[in-house]
Amino acid sequence: MIETSPRPRPRARTGAAALTLAALPGCADQPQSMFPPGSTEAGVIADLWWFMFWLGSAVYLLVLLVLLVAIRRSKGRSAPGKRPPNYLIWSGGIVLPAVVIVVLAFLSFAASRAAAPSGQGGQADLVIEVTGHKFWWHVVYPEHGIVTANEITIPAGRRVEFVMESADVIHSLWVPRLHGKIDMTPGHTTHLQVSADEPGVYRGQCAEYCGTQHANMAFFVEALPPDEFDLWVESRQQGPGPAGLAARRGQEVFVDAGCAACHGANGSPAEEVVGPDLTHLMSRRTIGAGTVANNRGNLGGWVVDPQTIKPGNLMPPTALQAQDLLDLLAYLETLR
Ligand code: CUA
Repeated sequence: MIETSPRPRPRARTGAAALTLAALPGCADQPQSMFPPGSTEAGVIADLWWFMFWLGSAVYLLVLLVLLVAIRRSKGRSAPGKRPPNYLIWSGGIVLPAVVIVVLAFLSFAASRAAAPSGQGGQADLVIEVTGHKFWWHVVYPEHGIVTANEITIPAGRRVEFVMESADVIHSLWVPRLHGKIDMTPGHTTHLQVSADEPGVYRGQCAEYCGTQHANMAFFVEALPPDEFDLWVESRQQGPGPAGLAARRGQEVFVDAGCAACHGANGSPAEEVVGPDLTHLMSRRTIGAGTVANNRGNLGGWVVDPQTIKPGNLMPPTALQAQDLLDLLAYLETLR
């Protein structure tokens, strides 16, 4: 006999729906949520979303009401009731849907113009090049000579232009609290101007399926007050701090084990961009573009066996003697 779980009773179902609605405002506490918006453009998109939500809810309630009236009227009748009057069919089946669709189309068009998802024109205060890779983000500040990955630091209240490309397949850059999503297409450059109203950390995510680890292709945008941003630029233009004996040995391991073939570090970018630049690795929150927290344990695990942590990423495992791994970690920890 197959056991089935009892069907939820109507009251339980109503309760679940109410709970879901009650949980919605909770999204506002998440760093990756379009509520509350963190920029003018995201505000335009959020307003449109709320309008669609309330309009959709009103239409849903209206349909339920009509259904309820029909059921009540048909009670006790064995034969089908009269055909509804023509005006009801015309108004509810054709006029009302047409009006709703036209209004929504007009508002969507107006919102996309106001938010101008690409190439808004106008001079940006700062240009940042972002290239999508399977499955991480290469970030370059051409004005300042800074190369980094998976975290983008911007000055709050300033207009920043992302100039975007893809190194392999189509990715899509999306920071819900700052703007709509925009595709990164191989062989084609796209632009997006954002401006964060307030300092803070805004989580972003690849929004176009790009392979096995699409879900683990996250990033962070950190908006700093402009004077702190200037200090950040200065700190990023400096090389790593002094290294002890173990770290100096670890640097040799870094070269001998082949890490340097794919990863730039020590202020010098790799010949060809294959893996994330590691010059300021330890300042990042996560490893593997948001996959795991950036700490010594995860870093060691990632070096030795990255395919277990993020299956399908392009980094091969690195077999190392225990002491070599410890030295390598000591070196990586100097990359601040
Ligand atoms: Cu990159 Cu999905």
